[in-house]
Amino acid sequence: MRKNQFIGFAFVSVCLWALVTYYLFLDRPLNHKPDQQKQIQIQEHLSLLELKLNEQFLDGEKLLQQLRNIVKEQQLSVRVNEAGAEGRGVGEEQQLEKQQGEKEDEQVNRMRSLAEEVLPDGGPVIAVLVFACNRITVNKCIDQLLKYRPARERFPIIVSQDCGHRPTADVIELYGDEITRIEQPDQSDIPVPPKEKKFKGYFKIARHYGWALNYTFFKFNFDTVIIVEDDLDIAPDFFEYFLGTYPILKRDPTLWCVSAWNDNGKAGLVDENAPDLLYRTDFFPGLGWMLTKSVWAELAPKWPSSYWDDWVRQPEQRRNRACIRPEISRTRTFGKIGVSNGHFYEKHLKYIKLNEKFVPFTQKNLTYLLKDDFDRFVM
Ligand code: UD1
Ligand code: MN
Repeated sequence: MRKNQFIGFAFVSVCLWALVTYYLFLDRPLNHKPDQQKQIQIQEHLSLLELKLNEQFLDGEKLLQQLRNIVKEQQLSVRVNEAGAEGRGVGEEQQLEKQQGEKEDEQVNRMRSLAEEVLPDGGPVIAVLVFACNRITVNKCIDQLLKYRPARERFPIIVSQDCGHRPTADVIELYGDEITRIEQPDQSDIPVPPKEKKFKGYFKIARHYGWALNYTFFKFNFDTVIIVEDDLDIAPDFFEYFLGTYPILKRDPTLWCVSAWNDNGKAGLVDENAPDLLYRTDFFPGLGWMLTKSVWAELAPKWPSSYWDDWVRQPEQRRNRACIRPEISRTRTFGKIGVSNGHFYEKHLKYIKLNEKFVPFTQKNLTYLLKDDFDRFVM
């Protein structure tokens, strides 16, 4: 029995072992299967993800390409618009230039006929050329010129503007047909030697003078011009003075200009009882002065790039000729702030007396100003 019990016990143990082993073996594959599946699933997921990423990448690429195309199209349309605008601009510009040219031609023709007009009394036509830049107070000077001008046809007023200063141009344009406005076209920077940088203004003034005098004498064809700067007051007999001295200037080749200014004409230094007294001077006074075309024709080809007033005083230009000047100035400067910065103004210029009594110079015998007579007159 004990033997049978042992066999039975052994049999049951073997069965149990077999069962356990079976389950053990059965379980492992059962436990491993989901892992493998998971791995497979993960791999599938990864491949799917990769596929989707690829798809998205391709979509992104497509999108990017589309964006590039849109940008290109827009750039192209912008360029087309610009070209169109430029095309239109060029057209408009050409139109404007044409209109400008026509206006200029019309102005030149009008001024030429004024310059060549024969006035009833046979007297001269003398242009008044006002130099302006950026002082809106230019109206002060123009108002006085208009106030004292005896006849419009005798003294056409031209205001030449430099500096491209719009507010000053607006002031000048307010005068309409009363005056003629011209504009110095070259506003480019002037190369100036380093030592003279602070004197650049004098280079600009000389450029403006050269241009405007050429324009007035050679384009408008005036034979005689009175030069005025925009910071000058004028005396009531300013025009009478120039008209009266005109025949002397034309007659005497030893004169090259008539000036309205006495450099030493300070109140207290001048003879206030002799407003009709005139002189010849070797020193060019400027500041309101009359010049003829023949003298300009001589100066124009060698016109300097700066300090024009010092230059005309040099012997090569003056050639031993004189200018007429008055005892009492017919101009006075109020240009304290200007290119020369008013150094001279405070010390000297502001004390110059402006004549107030009208002298009928055209009715006076001024032949004492002719060279030989004058030499005798002052001896
Ligand atoms: C001084 C003289 C002036 C002369 C000038 C040039 C006196 C009181 N004045 O000028 O007669 O012509 O030196 O040597 O002695 N202007 C331009 N463009 C410019 C700047 C000024 O055309 O870039 C014009 C002004 O409008 C004015 C003239 O030049 O009509 C003189 O300028 P201003 O600033 O008055 O200088 P000043 O020191 O008087
Ligand atoms: Mn001045």
